[in-house]
Amino acid sequence: MVKLTYYEQDLLNGRYGKDKQKAMEFIVEYAVALGAERLIEIKSVTGGLGSSKNILEDLKQNNYDIEKIFCEYKLNSSEKVKVTKVCVPTATLINLLDPHKIDELHISDDVKKYCDVNEEYVKKLGMQCLYTCAPYLSGFIPMYGEHLAWMESSAVVMANSVFGARTNTESLESTGAASLVGRVPYWGLHIKENRYATHHINIKTKIDSEFDYGLLGYCIGEIVQEKIPVITGLEKRPSFEDLKHFGAALAASGGVELYHIVGVTPEADTLEEALGYKHPNNYTEIKEKNLEDIYKKINSSSKDKKIDFIIIGCPHASLIQVSEIVDKIKNKKINRNVKMWILIPYSIKGLCDRQGYTEVIQSFGAELLTDICPAIAGLVPNNVKNIATNSIKQAYYLTNLMNCKCWYGTLNNCISGAISGKWEGVFNEN
Ligand code: F3S
Repeated sequence: MVKLTYYEQDLLNGRYGKDKQKAMEFIVEYAVALGAERLIEIKSVTGGLGSSKNILEDLKQNNYDIEKIFCEYKLNSSEKVKVTKVCVPTATLINLLDPHKIDELHISDDVKKYCDVNEEYVKKLGMQCLYTCAPYLSGFIPMYGEHLAWMESSAVVMANSVFGARTNTESLESTGAASLVGRVPYWGLHIKENRYATHHINIKTKIDSEFDYGLLGYCIGEIVQEKIPVITGLEKRPSFEDLKHFGAALAASGGVELYHIVGVTPEADTLEEALGYKHPNNYTEIKEKNLEDIYKKINSSSKDKKIDFIIIGCPHASLIQVSEIVDKIKNKKINRNVKMWILIPYSIKGLCDRQGYTEVIQSFGAELLTDICPAIAGLVPNNVKNIATNSIKQAYYLTNLMNCKCWYGTLNNCISGAISGKWEGVFNEN
């Protein structure tokens, strides 16, 4: 039995409209399935209509009646009802195209049509078209202790761990209903007692770059799977960008939604606090050899050192990361056989232009792209043979989802590879 407030009961009874009623029915059913005793008010949602093959196909078959598809997919309703505005800030995630590169990306007419119809519709509902997996770089900045309904694994782990907000990894379906009623089941990581670490991971090797954090995250994700690690032993404080790579890697290899780093993340002033004053289920030390093994494993898809495509910006790059790239490529030229994409949120494109970063990137011969993810949208250019990236998550997805050959290394490896056309990365060059 799910206990509802008077307001929630009114939503369920249809007092605020049929769409909210259907959304509430969905959320209550979801709560019953999870065994949640009540619902919790949320402050923001990430997740738009989605762009799965099924949605695209259904939309086409239904003559682009997007409201019908929204009701079906987001409200679990075969009846089409008038959908009104969202009641909490709601952001879309990755899109299927960069609006400025439609021809270059060879976007099909069907996909373009879907993106146009979808964008017009979600804007009418009051959603924000951020089209990024890093919504926290575009104004969706959660506050400590706030409850959210977010999806996209790398964003969820940042929201929980770095910002100290509370969210489970929601689905495309639940985020639609949640955005209309501002509620999700009070369950999982919304509850303080479920946020304590289960695994103590003690670091016994030097970790001081985004590259190291990618390897470390991947390694810990494999160990803890979906549990909660607390990390000790780091000699140097990680940067925000390090944590972007770390969380994305943890979520890729393991499905981690929350981690703690003692003295760094907000629920871990001490090891004891992070553990909830209990003994961990498991204690593991991470040594250099563990990271080297991950490096070899992630780089096992390719033997050919000739590279022709480089992807930077997974999760989408911050302005600071773009400025670092620009410093490294200024007055240099990309190899004519290599393509390089730098992925950013649309919201920082204007700043990149203003700072002169876009110009430097273009004269180097690389491209700044917004809104997309090559691995998720399957947007790798035709005839590409060997990819390189500084993101372990992108490398994992490209090799496992798209069957590509891909090298993982440092930003320096990627840039020198872009210039020479050859991969020269090694494990311990730092
Ligand atoms: Fe974002 Fe795609 Fe990476 S969604 S986190 S750029 S795999």
